Order: sequence, then C-alpha cells, then structure tokens
Amino acid sequence: MKDEVQSPEERSATLKGMGCSRKRVEDVRFTQGRGNYVDDIKLDGMLTGDFVRSPYAHARVLSIDTEAALAVPGVLAVLTAKDLEPLGLHWMPTLAGDKQMVLADGKVLFQGQEVAYVVATDRYAAADGVAAVEVDYEDLPVVTDPFKAMDPDAPVLREDLAGQTEGAHGPRRHHNHIFTWEQGDKAATEAVLAEADVVAEEMVYYHRTHPMPLETCGCVASMDKVTGKLTLWGTFQAPHAVRTVASLISGIAEHNIRVISPDIGGGFGNKVGVYPGYVCSIVASIVTGKPVKWVESRMDNLMSTAFARDYWMQGKIAATKEGRITGLWCHTTADHGGFDACADPTKFPAGFMNICTGSYDIPVAYLAVDGVYTNKAPGGVAYRCSFRVTEAAYFIERMIEVLAIKLNMDAAELRRINFIRKEQFPYQSALGWEYDSGDYHTAWEKALNAVGYDGLRREQAERLEAFKRGETRKLIGIGLTHFTEIVGAGPVKNCDILGLGMFDSCEIRIHPTGSAIARLGTISQGQGHATTFAQIIASEIGIPADDITLEEGDTDTAPYGLGTYGSRSTPVAGAATAMAARKIRAKAQMIAAYLLEVHDDDVEFDVDRFVVKGAPERFKTMKEIAFASYNQAIPGVEPGLEAVSYYDPPNMTYPFGAYICVMEIDVDTGEHAVRSFYALDDCGTRINPMIIEGQVHGGATEGYAIAMGQEIAYDEMGNHKTATLMDFFVPTAWETPHYTTDFTVTPSPHHPIGAKGVGESPNVGSVPCFSNAVHDAFRPFGLVQSHMPHDHWRIWKIAEDLGLHV
Ligand code: CDP
Repeated sequence: MKDEVQSPEERSATLKGMGCSRKRVEDVRFTQGRGNYVDDIKLDGMLTGDFVRSPYAHARVLSIDTEAALAVPGVLAVLTAKDLEPLGLHWMPTLAGDKQMVLADGKVLFQGQEVAYVVATDRYAAADGVAAVEVDYEDLPVVTDPFKAMDPDAPVLREDLAGQTEGAHGPRRHHNHIFTWEQGDKAATEAVLAEADVVAEEMVYYHRTHPMPLETCGCVASMDKVTGKLTLWGTFQAPHAVRTVASLISGIAEHNIRVISPDIGGGFGNKVGVYPGYVCSIVASIVTGKPVKWVESRMDNLMSTAFARDYWMQGKIAATKEGRITGLWCHTTADHGGFDACADPTKFPAGFMNICTGSYDIPVAYLAVDGVYTNKAPGGVAYRCSFRVTEAAYFIERMIEVLAIKLNMDAAELRRINFIRKEQFPYQSALGWEYDSGDYHTAWEKALNAVGYDGLRREQAERLEAFKRGETRKLIGIGLTHFTEIVGAGPVKNCDILGLGMFDSCEIRIHPTGSAIARLGTISQGQGHATTFAQIIASEIGIPADDITLEEGDTDTAPYGLGTYGSRSTPVAGAATAMAARKIRAKAQMIAAYLLEVHDDDVEFDVDRFVVKGAPERFKTMKEIAFASYNQAIPGVEPGLEAVSYYDPPNMTYPFGAYICVMEIDVDTGEHAVRSFYALDDCGTRINPMIIEGQVHGGATEGYAIAMGQEIAYDEMGNHKTATLMDFFVPTAWETPHYTTDFTVTPSPHHPIGAKGVGESPNVGSVPCFSNAVHDAFRPFGLVQSHMPHDHWRIWKIAEDLGLHV
C-alpha cells in the first residue's frame, strides 16, 4: 500500500495542515465570478427598499407627505415612524444599551438619518419614490464638537432622554453626556505624576473614519406567510446574534427565523451593528408578503452606518530622567454621534481602550472615558481592531514619542527600556488585563536589525544637514511602533453583547468515507476561514484539508456563535475547532483500539492514523476508522463520528508586533513617499503563513489610508464633507506601499493550538507607525503633535507653521 511507504513527514505534507501556506480554496469561486453576495440574491416577486434621508444634521420633522411618492408607478408603500410605532419598532435597541430611531421620530440627529422607507418594484422606482416624499423640517442648532456639546447651554440633542440622569453605563451629568468609564488608580497615578522627574502631556486625536468594505451593507427579508418563517439574508458579521436580537425585537419565535450571511465582501466592523435597513426590510416583507431587498449605496454607507474612532485622548506620561516610565494618565472624550451604537462588549463602554498601557511595564495608570452625543452619525465600531484597541495603540505609541522628545532620547531605546520583559508573562497590567504571553525584546531587536536602524538614523541625520544647507527639500521620517493587541472576546464571564455571551463554536462531522464537513459560528468576510480552519482539523485528526468542507453563516445549520469581528475567529472558533477535533480523535482512538484488538491506551496518534505502540506496522488510518465508526458494531460505542465544541476562552490572546516605516517627505508640497515598511507580527502559532501575510498587507493598507488621508469630516453645520469616494481616501495599487513581513512565534499558553488572532494587528500597528514617521521627520524642527490624517495639505501646513517654507 502506498501508505506504508510514506514517511510521517510525507503523510503530514499531504494533509496541508497547520503551518502550510495552503492556497485559498474560496478563491476558485471568487476569481471566476461565482461569489454569492446579498445583491446576487434574486427571489420571485422581490421588492426593493430605499430610504429618504435627512439633509439636516439637527432638525425637527414637522410633517412627512407620502402622497406623491405613493403615486409614483411601482411604489407600493412608504413607511414612516408612525407606521412602525404601533409595532413598537420606530426605535430599536443599540448594541451599547442605548436606543436609536429606526425612522425619524419627531426630529433628526445627523445628516443622512433615515426618515422614511420607500418600497417599490425595483431600485429605480424606489429612488423616484424617495425623491417624491415631501418632508417639512425646522432646522435646529447643530453641535459637531464633543467639547462644545458638553457646554451647559449646548442644545439638547436627545430629547427622548430628558431628565434621565442614569444611562446604560452609569450616571449622566449633562444632557449630551452618555457615560463616564473609569479604570485604574486615579489617586496613585496623580501622585506619581506630581512627583515625577519628567511628565509629557499631549492631546492625541484619532479622527473619525469609516470602515470601507467593497460591498456595502444590505439584506433581503423574506417572510413566508404560509410557513410563518422569516428568512433574512444579510451582510451580517454575527448572524446568530442577529437572529436572537431579531426574535427579541419582533416577537417572532427564534426557530421561525433563519439568518443567512452569504459571501460577504469585507466587513471590518461595518457589518456588526443592527441598522434601520434591516428592521424596515423585515417589516416591509411582513406588510407586503413579498421578499424585500435593501442594499446601501456608497454614500448611504459612508453617511449613516458604523463610523469608527473619533477619540480625543488627553494624555500624561511620567518617567524618570533615565526614561523609565512610572505612570500613565488618559482622559478621553469620545464622540458617539446622535445615538450610542458602539459595538463593544456590555461591560466595556469604551471597548478595550484600557489596553492603552500598550507593550510597556507601567506600574500605575488611570483611564477615564466620557461618551458624548453630537450631531453626527452613530456607530463607534471596531474598524479592523478589537474594540478601540487601535485608539489605545495610537495613544500610547504617540505618547512614547512625545516622551522621547521631552527626554531627548531615541524612541527605539525608550521603548526597549520600558518593554514588559519575557519573564514577566503572564503579565498583569495596571489597567486590569492579564497579558498571556510575549517576547517584545526579541521582536524589537529583530525588527531594528532587519531595517538597519542605526544606519537609517545616520542617513536621516545626513539628510537633515543637507536640508539645512539647502541641498534638498526632502526630509526622512522613521516611524516606530511596538503594539500589543487584545483579541478573542469572550471570556463569557467578562464579555457579552446585549447579554449574549461571547463564546464560539464548531461542529465537525466525519463522513463514512473519511472526508468531513465542519460548521462554525463565525463568518468569513474574506479572511479565508474555509482554508485555515480545515487546516486545524487536518492537523488534529489526520484528514487532508482538501477533503474538508467548511460552512459558516447559516443559523439553521451552523452551531450558535457570536461571529467574526475583533480578530476573534481564530482565538475562539479556532479553539472550538481544535477541541471538537480532539473529541473526534478521542472516539477514533477507542474505535482503532477495538479494531486492532488492543487496549485504548496501547494505541497512539500518528499524523493520520492510530498505531499500536511499539508496533508501527499495526495501524488503522482515519479513513478506516471513519468507515468502521458507521458500519461496524462496536460494543459500547455509538455509531458515527462527529462532535461539537462550544468554546468559552479562559482569557483573551495578546498578539503583538514591531513595525518600522521609512518615509520621505517633501517639505514644499506636503507629499510623502513610503520608502519601506517592515511589519513583524507575532500571532502565536501560525496556521497559514500566506494568509497571515495577506492579512498584514490588507490591514497595513487600511492603516495607511487612515493615517495618511481617510476621514469622515463634517462642517460646522453638520454637513458631511466626505460622503463619496471622490473625497474619502481609499488607496489603490498606485498609492499602496510595499511591505516586508516578518514574524516571531510566541504561542498563547491557553489556546489549544497556541494561536492568537492576526487580522486586525496590522491596522492597529500601522496607523501609529505611519503617523510617527511623519512626526519624526519634523521632530528636529520642534513638532510634537499634529493630528491625522496626514494628507498633503496637512503635512504642508506643518512645514508652513514651523517656518520651513522659503
Ligand atoms: O476573526 P478574523 O477571521 O477576522 O481574524 P483572525 O482570527 O485573526 O484570522 C484571520 C485569518 O488569519 C484567518 O483565516 C485565520 O485562520 C488566519 N490566521 C492564521 O493563519 N494563524 C493565526 N495565528 C491567526 C490567524
């Protein structure tokens, strides 16, 4: 038999298990136009919904006249808040414990807010219907600045909350105040700041931006009045959670709701939230008895769904004169827009912002976050980061640079002397986290050596001298970052969303002929789950990855799970996959022992088979075991070979990375050129190195966009200034820098296969790295802090303000 001549290494290679750069199996469909996205779904008699949106950022809605719209050929219905009110659906709960208008109920709070929902036979008729709806507005004073929103005489935005001094996250001390969230030891931190040799203080603003999936949000709702079953296809990053929440809100029994996330064209946090489009489409389908599709336009998407960031972070960092950090203080003003619709675990109203001590051993720290209402779109999602980790990383990595300036120290050295040391793990941070594992010094030295750091600094100094002599107008900036992520929410004891515990799941069924299907509670949006999770199973039970089908996203078939965001798939569902596989392996061991007529303990697993200990010629392959499990009566053992695991992680995982960017900056034009970008990531055990590299390229490109141009901007009237791709920067291949990727491997001690998440690390790490490069170029001229995005005009302005233009 061929099997018998193959070495374990050869057999292992045929499995394409963990560590193999297996090609993405999903790309066969995607590259041949066979993807199946929400907008590809076409059902008999399907209608289209579209929104009338507010042109005002703050206005009273005096009247809505739908008569002309209903006369438009093809328009079947126009829903307003009045129609939804009897159903109790004119407002809906947000993920953050607030509530949000589904359709304008008396007033609007941001430009682009949903005012009425037009249902028509096709998209064009719906658009004509939208144009024909007449809304009478009375404009109100607008507040777009979160600091002004807290003025005593600021306009009252949320009249529905009048007199409420308690919110979902504790006391409210002003009519536009949402919550205050405090972590750490305030008194001890203030004492350290008062006595420190050096204190650096700065306001670090992480501007408002928006995730940019290629596919916008959308859904198709289909209520079958005969069976009473609602099927909802949608761009959902958490289909099971959508089913449960839809059931709770609508009163439709959960078994009568089937939620399907088909292929999703990128999510990045944009598709976590519950949007009015989903509610209105369900209602419209119930009312009309027809399937109703709603798919956002790009402008709808940029104006109304899921913004990200908008954190004003006032920081103080204390250190000895030798550069040893002794304390960190941060007060954040968080602009949440018109409704608090942040997607964070319930106990964390500012997400995991308390990872803001970063990679550093900081003995004492204090963080306070004030959430504030303004006349901007709601959202506050983790745009490719784990719940505000990117804000935290940007804050600490800027504060380190600011401190380095104050100490007149090299920022690489300042980091080195403050890193948490390898032997300190598991490390208890001053703001309450237990970092599972890390080896920051090794990663840092590897990164500095790889880029030739000392040589770069010499070149930079020479360029500076040449600039001063007037021989060049280009400066060099060297951006440094060492970030620590926190990904993999649960554990359930700490993490839930709207009361739903954040575990995840995997069910594996081995077929009689030895191939398999695995179903997970997560949902890929391009991350390659079908490729990588099959690799985990291949290594755990010895079935080739190519013989394993992977399914996600259908709540009627997949086990319950909380979905994919916050890089939680590998830490949580990946762990569930390994655990389910191990249950199967344990049963397979019993079957193999029976077939080989030995005791269970006398067989051992060997790549793709169980062998009798000490007699390797006596074995049963997993294929043979699978067949026997179904077709042979084995005393005391149930037929079949399948298992399910619901995995509640004991802790988060803490991936980290060392990034270095070299940038050339033209002082006269403000243009920049990224000369090199080196990204070292440590995500523990690596399942698929090629997919990891792809994740790093994608995340770093998003980081580049955010740092260098991408923003959601409003004027003082609350008009959206960046609602099209003419204004909202998305890098193309032309602008995208070249990346050099690298890695170290520090496994997670509590994850069954030692893996940590990676999808979001490059976004978290690259934003401060690009920004630090810009700042570093101007450091010799006294620049301490300048707000992102560093577009050409803003860079030009830095040079202008520093008097560098001749
Ligand atoms: O939750 P999400 O899928 O966005 O993020 P992730 O868990 O970090 O995984 C992103 C992709 O990288 C998936 O295909 C993972 O299986 C893969 N990955 C890997 O190959 N090795 C790791 N240690 C972590 C992730």
